[in-house]
Amino acid sequence: MTSIHMTSLLPTHRPALYLAPMQDVTDLPFLKVIHPRGGADVYVTEYFRVHPESRPNAWILRSIDENPTGKPIFAQMIGQEIDALVRTAKELLEHPVAGIDLNLGCPAPVVCRKEAGGGLLRNLPKVDRILGALRDAIPGRFTVKTRIGYHHHDEFPQLLEIFRKHAIDALAIHGRTVEERYSTPVHPDCVKLAVDGLPCPVIANGNVVDVPTGLAYLEKSGAAGLMIGRGAIRNPWLFAQLRAALEGTPPPAPTCRDLLDHVLLLHDELAASATRFDELGHVQRMKKTMVFVTQGHDPDFEFRIRRAKTPDDFHSACRDHLDRDDPMPPAPQEGSRVFCGFAELLA
Ligand SMILES: Cc1cc2nc3c(=O)[nH]c(=O)nc-3n(C[C@H](O)[C@H](O)[C@H](O)COP(=O)(O)O)c2cc1C
Repeated sequence: MTSIHMTSLLPTHRPALYLAPMQDVTDLPFLKVIHPRGGADVYVTEYFRVHPESRPNAWILRSIDENPTGKPIFAQMIGQEIDALVRTAKELLEHPVAGIDLNLGCPAPVVCRKEAGGGLLRNLPKVDRILGALRDAIPGRFTVKTRIGYHHHDEFPQLLEIFRKHAIDALAIHGRTVEERYSTPVHPDCVKLAVDGLPCPVIANGNVVDVPTGLAYLEKSGAAGLMIGRGAIRNPWLFAQLRAALEGTPPPAPTCRDLLDHVLLLHDELAASATRFDELGHVQRMKKTMVFVTQGHDPDFEFRIRRAKTPDDFHSACRDHLDRDDPMPPAPQEGSRVFCGFAELLA
């Protein structure tokens, strides 16, 4: 059985494609540039931090209020204080959101120490209480994005029981434990366990870097869709390529120069949105994105970007490596320190 709330949102003829929420990356300028390259079917905001004194962050709200994609966007919350989560969910529902999503996955020590994000997975009775309160407070779509446990994936079945009890509308699973952070292969068998055990759509997340890894994750898990983060930063055509593979149509075949145009467009959109533009700070901001973009290219590209300080360092590295007609590298290099263990999805 599929939640009635989600059937009106997700494609019916093929698996759904979600853009993963990424703090400081999947903001309004990013949505503006990824949408014309094919874009996702569903978006999720980076997380709104929630605590008793918090108010929804104005910058993140812009990605909802000015959503340029024409596609649904969920507002994601992170926090552990029940009254504040309920109050914030109600505030966010006053904006044009497709629903509310709760983060149960962030592994950042500062977040986990406060028992929020992935830290909540050490306290399942509290997860139970939070989900109960939010389910009661949210009349529409209420979804969860989780990891598969804190220490070990054998914690996952207990977590699934809580998700089932509160009739969430969809579950996105980053198929690693909190302790595995980003450094291991993912566990498609856990995603499959959720697909088999929950009545709602289950979305597989983690390590999809190209069409073969995406199709393999769907095949191994039986998930209703894929959620893609870093792979879509590296290759903004990835959603269009997957959509073409799933629908049997010709995929886009971007060149390195197409990627250069994309990077420069993102650079300009981010510059235009900055409240106080500072050209050296902007190079640092672009580096957060470029760490992913450089994977799969000549290692000198990453080397130069990591060391770039000035706009000239940044632009000359991009020009020297991308201003050519060669096809974009289809995947990150094996052994990439940024994308760990993606090849295991193909095993
Ligand atoms: C820079 C960065 C920021 C992230 N911020 C968030 C966030 O705000 N909320 C969230 O649920 N996950 C966040 N994540 C995790 C991603 O949504 C995703 O689960 C993870 O990157 C694995 O998927 P991928 O291999 O497709 O990137 C973040 C990841 C990265 C790399």
